[in-house]
Amino acid sequence: MVEAETEQYATKALFSLEGKTALVTGGSSGLGLIMAKGLLRNGVRVIIASRSQEKCDLALSELASLGECSAMAVDVTDSADRKRLLEHVDERFAGLSILINNAGANWGAKLEEYPDEGFAKVINTNLNAVFSLTRDAVPLLSKAATVDDPSRIINIGSMDGIHVPVVQRVPTFAYSSSKAALHHLTRSFAIELAHRHITVNAIAPGFFASRMTDYVFEHFIEDIKDDCPLHRVGKPEEIVGIVTYLASRAGAYTNGTVIPVDGGTSISKGKRPWTD
Ligand SMILES: NC(=O)c1ccc[n+]([C@@H]2O[C@H](COP(=O)([O-])OP(=O)(O)OC[C@H]3O[C@@H](n4cnc5c(N)ncnc54)[C@H](OP(=O)(O)O)[C@@H]3O)[C@@H](O)[C@H]2O)c1
Repeated sequence: MVEAETEQYATKALFSLEGKTALVTGGSSGLGLIMAKGLLRNGVRVIIASRSQEKCDLALSELASLGECSAMAVDVTDSADRKRLLEHVDERFAGLSILINNAGANWGAKLEEYPDEGFAKVINTNLNAVFSLTRDAVPLLSKAATVDDPSRIINIGSMDGIHVPVVQRVPTFAYSSSKAALHHLTRSFAIELAHRHITVNAIAPGFFASRMTDYVFEHFIEDIKDDCPLHRVGKPEEIVGIVTYLASRAGAYTNGTVIPVDGGTSISKGKRPWTD
């Protein structure tokens, strides 16, 4: 009796993703590519999308051996591209169980030199495109959703949407504002889509190695570690872990949250002024 009752507490039952389908924007590099690998490794059929065909092809050559995957060159800020992408998802999957809004851009410059185009580009990519793609993906997500196993939207926010980043020594006004807004959009969508059995959560990563963090890792890695209570950067499996939780049965009741995965960086500057 107890054995039967606790069967559902086994990690295999709690965290299985087998048979699900996922779309990962910005899946051709960095965190997106890591998440795509993690999903495929766990039996999810995956579509990745990013602007560069070359990067998509390269990523696909790594992903193909892990499971059923396709890649599409798409600019998420372009409405015709988004439409093409969702048509591809519909053709391929006839529904969608996991949407990961991961594509992102950054821009750093001193205040007096910070261009309107840079600000607009970042807000457009990190916020506006997420709103539009998510709105238009709802019918596909609805198709795959059930009361017991809701479809999942996972937005990739940032700890920089929680605190104001300074470690990179140059202000990133648009980036941190876009991520703070994305966190709140996550909450709005969670309320809006719950009745359709779609949950919406955000992950707020700290520092992970990627093209976006190349420069800061090269110049400020000691400061980055110093700012983190755990004194290190994140590991790929720590992103796969949180995505697996949010996309699985274990995460089905988690809705409207922003989960920092940053070793505690966003809540503390890492150093305790007292000693043991
Ligand atoms: N790495 C970190 O430490 C960290 C920390 C916090 C949050 N994040 C967030 O994680 C996400 C992924 O970043 P990353 O660090 O993995 O950087 P990355 O390696 O530069 O990845 C960004 C991805 O987004 C794609 N992309 C950019 N603009 C796009 C657009 N308009 N349309 C479609 N795809 C687009 C890029 O491919 P194309 O160039 O081919 O378009 C690339 O695949 C971002 O949202 C970022 O803000 C990262």
